[in-house]
Amino acid sequence: MLEDVKEILQKYGQEHLIGFYDELTEKEKQNLIEQIKRIDFDKISKLYEETKKSNKFAEDKIEPMSYIDKNKLSKEEKKRLEEIGEKVISSGQYAVATMAGGQGSRLGHHGPKGTFELFPGKSLFEILCDNLKKANNRYNIIIPWYIMTSKENNDDTVKFFEGKNYFGYPKEYVKFFTQGELPMIDTNGRILLETKGRIKEAADGNGGIFNSMIRAGIYADMKNRGIKWVFIGAIDNALLNMADSLLLGMTKDKGMFAASKTISKLNPQERVGVFCKRNSKPSVIEYSELPEEMAVMRDKEGELFYGEAHIMCNLFSIDVLDKIGKEKLPYHAAFKKANYIDKNGEVVEATKPNAYKFESFIFDAFSTLDDILLMRAKREEEFAPVKNATGTDSPETARELYLKQNM
Ligand code: UD1
Repeated sequence: MLEDVKEILQKYGQEHLIGFYDELTEKEKQNLIEQIKRIDFDKISKLYEETKKSNKFAEDKIEPMSYIDKNKLSKEEKKRLEEIGEKVISSGQYAVATMAGGQGSRLGHHGPKGTFELFPGKSLFEILCDNLKKANNRYNIIIPWYIMTSKENNDDTVKFFEGKNYFGYPKEYVKFFTQGELPMIDTNGRILLETKGRIKEAADGNGGIFNSMIRAGIYADMKNRGIKWVFIGAIDNALLNMADSLLLGMTKDKGMFAASKTISKLNPQERVGVFCKRNSKPSVIEYSELPEEMAVMRDKEGELFYGEAHIMCNLFSIDVLDKIGKEKLPYHAAFKKANYIDKNGEVVEATKPNAYKFESFIFDAFSTLDDILLMRAKREEEFAPVKNATGTDSPETARELYLKQNM
């Protein structure tokens, strides 16, 4: 067994991963070998090379992307489009997926982010569930709800739902599935060990949802249920509207296969991705990658040139979900703090960023399509993010925004 993997580890300069092999129990040895066999070392070494490149936009043609402002529609047009959407939802052709693979670390919350209580006894999961229940009442249907977890938080998430009796949502309409992971590497491209017998892996980003849906049989389940449209949203927006008949109706009416609801970016520093056309394809540049000179650009009216914010309200036709799931979305490297086991077998506690984590992003799926619809909505009606423990986008700001809409 060990011989099987030795050659591959040598080829990629990762022999240190079996440096403590002799000290492991039989079970640990088996687990480590299995983990090594699952890893695509070629992919990891390419990702490492990518980390050395700096300006990712140098050769790309970047332009702003057009959108439709829902508040500029006439009453009649709005009604017509809503009716198109309502028909799809009430005939059982609509499902919702929630990306809940993240931990609440930035929030200072221990455990799955969805278990964070925004109000005493009211978790983010329950807030989303309430939102879906309202839609079910409105459309006289039960919308299937698919929840993506990560290996790290799957058990805790399922236990939480069980413990709360699924907040009264029909259990047979809630399905969990787990996203993938990728090893973390140091600045020399060496894969880190978490323990002597386990490689350090981290969730592979919310873009992993497409592939995971196929792998976990979720896509097939949707097909069986006759689902035609899937809304994919985040766990951390207390005002997330998961069944927006206008967004759906408009997308269908325009003959598009995907759509995203946007809001106007507050200021150049706001930590949101922005839409643009990149080499003529719909695209989002994440806040962590947007060059400062692009972030501050304004048009003649004084509006931010790249000002359409991605708020993770994304809609896909089932027909393109399969295609996207088979595409290889790019990975983005994030430089993070990661504890690891050094060559002497000692635990090293990281005090500053020391390792790369690789994530694919949900919005990169848009670039696999020729075009998507952008519908601009009002910030105060749609966006109450819960990201940081205090200050901007914190529980305090989210509570205030939520209460204003739900009074
Ligand atoms: C995200 C968006 C950003 C957007 C902002 C709005 C991405 C990559 N970035 O940034 O464009 O403007 O929200 O609030 O989408 N998640 C997983 N698995 C993972 C990583 C994340 O399920 O491996 C989920 C989280 O649970 C959460 C969502 O994805 O529901 C967003 O995660 P996070 O990485 O915190 O996003 P932001 O950096 O806030």
